[in-house]
Amino acid sequence: MRKRQIIIDCDPGLDDAVALLLAFAATDRLDVLGITTVAGNVRGGLTFRNARIIRDVAGLDRNVPVCAGAPRPLVRDPVTAEDFHGTTGLGGLDLPKPKGRASRQHAVNFLIKTLRATKGFPATLVVTGPMTNVALALTMAPDIAEGLSEIVVMGGADREGGNITPHAEFNIFADPHAAQTVFQSGIAMRVLSLDVTHQLLTDDTMVERVRALGSPQAIIAADLLAASNRLEESVKARHAPLHDPSTLLALLRPDLFEGRKARVSVVMEEGERFGKTLPDYRHDGHVEWCTDVDKEAVFAELLGQLGRYPL
Ligand code: BDR
Ligand code: CA
Repeated sequence: MRKRQIIIDCDPGLDDAVALLLAFAATDRLDVLGITTVAGNVRGGLTFRNARIIRDVAGLDRNVPVCAGAPRPLVRDPVTAEDFHGTTGLGGLDLPKPKGRASRQHAVNFLIKTLRATKGFPATLVVTGPMTNVALALTMAPDIAEGLSEIVVMGGADREGGNITPHAEFNIFADPHAAQTVFQSGIAMRVLSLDVTHQLLTDDTMVERVRALGSPQAIIAADLLAASNRLEESVKARHAPLHDPSTLLALLRPDLFEGRKARVSVVMEEGERFGKTLPDYRHDGHVEWCTDVDKEAVFAELLGQLGRYPL
């Protein structure tokens, strides 16, 4: 079976970094065409740097292009999340400076060029940050929809309520206008919202199981998860949800997730509900809104994939 081609648009970010390590572990199933970065958890220069650091940590895929994208949201003022990711975005982990090549191509141009080339065998776009780059690419070149089989997004919340405001989840709140553009595109989407990621709290035992896998990559993944827990506990008094890695886990093991078809819009009017996602559940929806997950099996899959890195 041919590998699934994916592009990961991200804002690393502790959990984005774990998602990248997961993608690079699963190279037998996934062909990572590129990584595009966007301003989000920290400013754009740092997310670009962090993505290249993690590509080096993975070690196997130095040639995968990493392209920097939008340095700010489309309309609203920038918002960041250092409380949950530390000032560098990687929770203060002491990792070497990036060595691999930094692409000079803008992320939006990379998305357009790559997705025009995948029209014969459409690719999957995994989005783990604000959707600014994706909205710009779809606006500049709507024909790229033909090169896309699906957009898999971590973002939004329905029954769970928000994490950055009582109503809004961070990735959507950070660029609601971009999110609205992508949700209204009609492209097939799968959404891993807080409704599922809040079912995936990463306890200390799981962090230690990841560490015990023993490879350098697994140890760094454990450090990232532990830093995430430490920061989450200081702000929310609980373990950190496995937000961004859930996108890759849903791609690798769709059987572990349940969902409902929906059409989704975003509240863009200023006010307390600004950035809230509004899924309208209906059979003709093009969005699969994930609602439930088999937690034990998902964590087993995470361990299985990270366990593929050689000792
Ligand atoms: C999302 O917001 C970011 O802080 C995380 O990286 C994740 O993508 C969770 O709301
Ligand atoms: Ca993220």
